[in-house]
Amino acid sequence: MSEQHEESVELEVNGQRRVVSVRGDETLLETLRDRCGTSSVRYSCGIGVCGTCTVLLDGAAVSSCLLLTSMVRGRQVVTGEGLRRPDGGAEPPAVQRAFVEAGAFQCSYCIPAMALTVHAALQRDPDATMDELVDELGGNLCRCGSYPQIRQALEALVSDRVTSTRAGDGGAS
Ligand code: FES
Ligand code: FES
Repeated sequence: MSEQHEESVELEVNGQRRVVSVRGDETLLETLRDRCGTSSVRYSCGIGVCGTCTVLLDGAAVSSCLLLTSMVRGRQVVTGEGLRRPDGGAEPPAVQRAFVEAGAFQCSYCIPAMALTVHAALQRDPDATMDELVDELGGNLCRCGSYPQIRQALEALVSDRVTSTRAGDGGAS
């Protein structure tokens, strides 16, 4: 069996410059999990349907299973591990707090991606309505059926109007 050619790709992952050697057909999902140690990025369908592999690419939520790493060289990637306060404070960002306080998880496999998706939506529009946030999560599936609790987390975010997010608390932008 012939060895696959690899090329060097530079990325910024959670604020850190990374230079990784990747196969030409390697997805960003594989690179993040296998070479960058960011295990909050999760494989499920592999075809852009479930949303568990969601990361922020230059601030936008994308499915990392659909992107080749070689196509995102030089871009900024944020995973669940990087969704934290920019000041390095111990408090988690508002979105993560809301999910935890609502008990919006069972196995938690889907939750990092959900939190990133909601965070990106609120960064884009801090006044997003409940319906708009629910729409944003339309591409994120939860196999445990934690939707009622996820909805509670969204309601808490909307009703608090997430002062901290407006102040840039999330740190993923
Ligand atoms: S694993 Fe990427 S969308 Fe399902
Ligand atoms: S909490 Fe298990 S998949 Fe969502």
